[in-house]
Amino acid sequence: MKLIIEVIRSEFRKALGDAFGEEYYQIDPLVVLASNPKFGDYQSNIPLSLAKKLGEPPRTIAQKIIDHLNLNNICKPPEIAGPGFINLSLEPSYLETLLSEINLDSLLGVEKATHPQKIIVDFSSPNIAKEMHVGHLRSTIIGDCIARVLEFRGHDVLRLNHIGDWGTQFGMLIAYLKEVYPEVLTTADVIDLGDLVTLYKQAKIRFDEDEVFRETARQEVVKLQAGEASSLQAWQLLCNQSRREFQKIYDLLDIKLIERGESFYNPFLADIVTELDKQGLLEENDGAQCVFLDGFTNKDGQPLPLIVQKSDGGYNYATTDLAAIRYRITEDKAERIIYVTDAGQANHFAQFFQVAKKAGFLPDAVEVIHVPFGLVLGEDGKKLKTRSGETVKLKELLDEAIIQSRKDLETRLKEESRTETEDFISNVSQIVGLSAVKYADLSQNRISNYIFSYKKMLNLQGNTAPYMLYAYARVQSISREGGIDFSNLEKEAQIILAEETEINLAKHLLQLSDIILDVEKELYPNRLCEYLFEVSKKFNQFYEKCPVLKSEEPTKTSRLVLCDLTARTLKLGLSLLGISTLERM
Ligand code: ARG
Repeated sequence: MKLIIEVIRSEFRKALGDAFGEEYYQIDPLVVLASNPKFGDYQSNIPLSLAKKLGEPPRTIAQKIIDHLNLNNICKPPEIAGPGFINLSLEPSYLETLLSEINLDSLLGVEKATHPQKIIVDFSSPNIAKEMHVGHLRSTIIGDCIARVLEFRGHDVLRLNHIGDWGTQFGMLIAYLKEVYPEVLTTADVIDLGDLVTLYKQAKIRFDEDEVFRETARQEVVKLQAGEASSLQAWQLLCNQSRREFQKIYDLLDIKLIERGESFYNPFLADIVTELDKQGLLEENDGAQCVFLDGFTNKDGQPLPLIVQKSDGGYNYATTDLAAIRYRITEDKAERIIYVTDAGQANHFAQFFQVAKKAGFLPDAVEVIHVPFGLVLGEDGKKLKTRSGETVKLKELLDEAIIQSRKDLETRLKEESRTETEDFISNVSQIVGLSAVKYADLSQNRISNYIFSYKKMLNLQGNTAPYMLYAYARVQSISREGGIDFSNLEKEAQIILAEETEINLAKHLLQLSDIILDVEKELYPNRLCEYLFEVSKKFNQFYEKCPVLKSEEPTKTSRLVLCDLTARTLKLGLSLLGISTLERM
């Protein structure tokens, strides 16, 4: 479906050209959504911006534009307001036609991209033998949503998990593992290493205390690099163990990811440094190989280098990202690469993007975007911690959301004197609990920090998952109550928009496509959440004012179609957030 605003813009350009001459066919007519419903639906202040150039009063210009403007059947007669704004209100009959169109479309009027791209979304990306923390949870939830929106638009999306599975810390881990679990080298079975994080901490203590151990650890790095069997086996064991833990989270949250960790790029690292050297970009600084950057300085105002090879010959996070970007462009043929990490890494991305550009690894045609996000805070406004002050385990955090949501549900069932099966209760608790965590994250502007509160995210009122799920279930209850099968609702049914609440709901339902295109471009999932929240509110207002099952035909069918369209919009929108709906809750 063509966006309404685009239809209006193009009519405006025609009118401008017809009224003022050839060159005006091309200008931006400055048509925007009205800032306030009292100005109608759309506004343009183009008459004001042309006043000087045309040497005429804005209101006169406005009149001339209107005289040439053909928006019959789309808008009511345009109005000139204030110093010379043009206000437009959509014609309900036009909304009726458009709604009937999207009613017949399983994609609700959202078109597939005309030029589907190969897009990589690099997200989640926890580190082996370390805690997968709330920052990774944010990356997982936001990255998944972005990938879902892009997939929905028909792009070819590669969801990559850039796991931290390589680096010098593995020398220390392997050395320690061989020391305390010598059997790992002889057993084929995967041994349960228990809490890897504890293992990491213990290894670190050994490393800091014991010079001999440090040397063994260093040798292990060399052996691992050289592909020595026992070292590789120990490394695999660590990776497998972490992987199983990560997978539990992905399963719970229904996240699909392809693991392609840092180790994957190991064979290409030396070549990256050689290539940078060939191009004369390398400089030695304190024994390390660096590329100096434009526009970055350290605390003392000195130019800042990006280190690509440390003085001990080792490569680092940045070298790996350079190898990865090159591989993704040449081998994966990516046209757009999106990296979802905490805002703290913004400089890392800006820096290696710059080096990749300079080195010719990153052609202008490829768009690279760092999608940063803020911190997750506890209710005290400080970094999220358990009551005893430890880092929160993600699995426990998610389980707790389900427990809390179950409590809420049980209370509600009691209040409503309902009895439900255990299957129902556990399913609803799980979906509501996990959706609440996802939605709480996605509904915030991702740049800001947000406060993690079970109470807030599970509230049935407000911009929360339960509110949205409830609105959806409410529509489904109308269909049950009236014995109506929405999928059989006469698809060609006439839609009649008479009441103000019907018109308002209709206008919102028609914006889905604008919103999805916006998220595809700008990568802010909260805009989709806000939209769905508005749709739910507009639906509730409509439902309060307009009887559905009790009204006469043809109003009844028309209103049922509005209900059905609302439910389909919510279901589709929520699915793009990674949230599944419930028929009853
Ligand atoms: N493993 C990193 C971390 O935990 C995130 C990796 C993000 N992706 C990338 N290509 N650098 O912070």
